[in-house]
Amino acid sequence: MKILSKLRASIAVAAVLVLSTVMFVDINDAQAEYGDVVINNYSDGAGMRPVVFPHWFHRVRFRCKVCHADLGFKFQAGGNEINMVKIIDGQFCGACHNGDIAWSVENCNLCHSAKPNTPTQVHESTVQKLAQPSGAKK
Ligand code: HEC
Ligand code: HEC
Ligand code: HEC
Repeated sequence: MKILSKLRASIAVAAVLVLSTVMFVDINDAQAEYGDVVINNYSDGAGMRPVVFPHWFHRVRFRCKVCHADLGFKFQAGGNEINMVKIIDGQFCGACHNGDIAWSVENCNLCHSAKPNTPTQVHESTVQKLAQPSGAKK
């Protein structure tokens, strides 16, 4: 029964695929503390989409100290009173997003990219990002 054994083989392959996906997600769950932070103290109120701060993206590029000591970011989602005046003044995100170290402040939608009404939170989208099949666009 050639067809039957082929079928068995493909079921086995499918089972392995499902299993490895589950394991992959589990491993990345351990890094949820580095998940994206949604910051929405003021944005919705001001008619802007809330801010998504991709923590993992930044923390692989800079030491914790750069932001959490030198720039004074408190270790708490939404725990910093950030606004655009401060950013344009070079504080918080504006220390880098100044067209020098990173793209500048006029790219509103690159930061204000969350769905409206998303509350301040640590979002675990890093898990989804890392779990994308290889070859997927970043
Ligand atoms: C580098 C990231 C970044 C960029 C670029 C950016 N913002 Fe913001 N913005 C923030 C953060 C962080 C906050 C604080 C979010 C909160 O608590 O709701 C904020 C808050 C705001 C607020 C509410 C507070 C306030 O200052 O009134 C408005 C309005 C706003 N941004 C408008 C804009 C506009 C318009 C642009 C483009 C010209 C822009 N932002 C570009 C990060 C950014
Ligand atoms: C480029 C700047 C930057 C770097 C580098 C960085 N962070 Fe953060 N971190 C932030 C910002 C911004 C927030 C959110 C603050 C807010 O919402 O006001 C945050 C939030 C946090 C939080 C609270 C939210 C959560 O995920 O539980 C923790 C804990 C944290 N960071 C730990 C770290 C550690 C540990 C490192 C280094 C391995 C690090 N950060 C590197 C900017 C940074
Ligand atoms: C210590 C410097 C630093 C600080 C502080 C910082 N950023 Fe960035 N950010 C960068 C650099 C560098 C990049 C990469 C720029 C590039 O690719 O040209 C970046 C990229 C980004 C991106 C794009 C990520 C991607 O997937 O391409 C977003 C969104 C962003 N920053 C938001 C923020 C917000 C919001 C804040 C403040 C809460 C912030 N950043 C604070 C340095 C910083």
